[in-house]
Amino acid sequence: MKYPLTRSLLIALVALAPLSLQAEPDLERGKALNRQCALCHGFHGQGIIGGKYPRLAGLPEFYLLSMIDKYKTGELDYQAMTVVGGLRNLSEEDIQNLAAFLSDIDLATVSPLDIPTPAGADLENGEELYQGDCKTCHGRKAEGSKKKESPPLAGQYSEYLARQIEMFKKKERIHADDEEDETFADYEPQEIKDILAYITTLDDK
Ligand code: HEC
Ligand code: HEC
Repeated sequence: MKYPLTRSLLIALVALAPLSLQAEPDLERGKALNRQCALCHGFHGQGIIGGKYPRLAGLPEFYLLSMIDKYKTGELDYQAMTVVGGLRNLSEEDIQNLAAFLSDIDLATVSPLDIPTPAGADLENGEELYQGDCKTCHGRKAEGSKKKESPPLAGQYSEYLARQIEMFKKKERIHADDEEDETFADYEPQEIKDILAYITTLDDK
């Protein structure tokens, strides 16, 4: 062998490369960065009752990353967040740190949420519609599914979810990352209300 050292160095580099790509996220750094998000989303990422600011705590990393990316690239528009929140200027590494930190927060221990069940809804109808039309992607208990890249719906504010559904209907936001999605086209407002009310009962409160 002519260049044994070069060769073994190469082997070592190839073996190490995947490790350096999967560097552990820096949760302390994520915590520090979260200060600029806490302004709206709350210190523990708990959001705000009434759902103006959604809960971020405990959402899966894959979903946080995908939403942050949509805001950063402008596919979803909320200037106050990209500018005031500084989302626009965060490096990929810091976004990873932030998402890991937020995903790691166990709200039940630091700031338990009790999403109220809206009055005037038919929970049985909500259950039937949810278990028929939403379960395959969002899970039986609305816990979300990594495989389907679907977020949990349980534990998120109903008003926030209702607003997203309005956006899906108007195609201001694309549901299920599918331009052709018609999930919400045929639902009456009362049916949406029933589904969202049912979802509030799936929480582990
Ligand atoms: C000025 C207020 C504000 C700040 C600061 C802010 N956000 Fe937001 N964020 C919002 C609002 C409002 C929404 C929901 C927009 C809507 O209703 O469509 C949102 C939505 C989100 C969502 C989507 C959640 C979901 O369940 O779909 C993510 C993720 C998010 N923000 C992350 C962040 C991160 C990370 C930071 C800090 C870098 C941050 N935000 C800073 C106001 C803010
Ligand atoms: C084919 C799979 C699929 C089905 C079926 C489905 N969803 Fe989704 N849904 C997704 C995915 C993927 C996302 C996240 C990506 C996106 O749309 O932005 C999502 C996002 C959402 C959001 C936004 C959540 C947030 O935190 O911002 C709501 C609300 C929602 N879905 C409600 C429903 C309801 C209610 C049903 C049943 C009537 C349903 N979905 C059926 C895949 C699905």
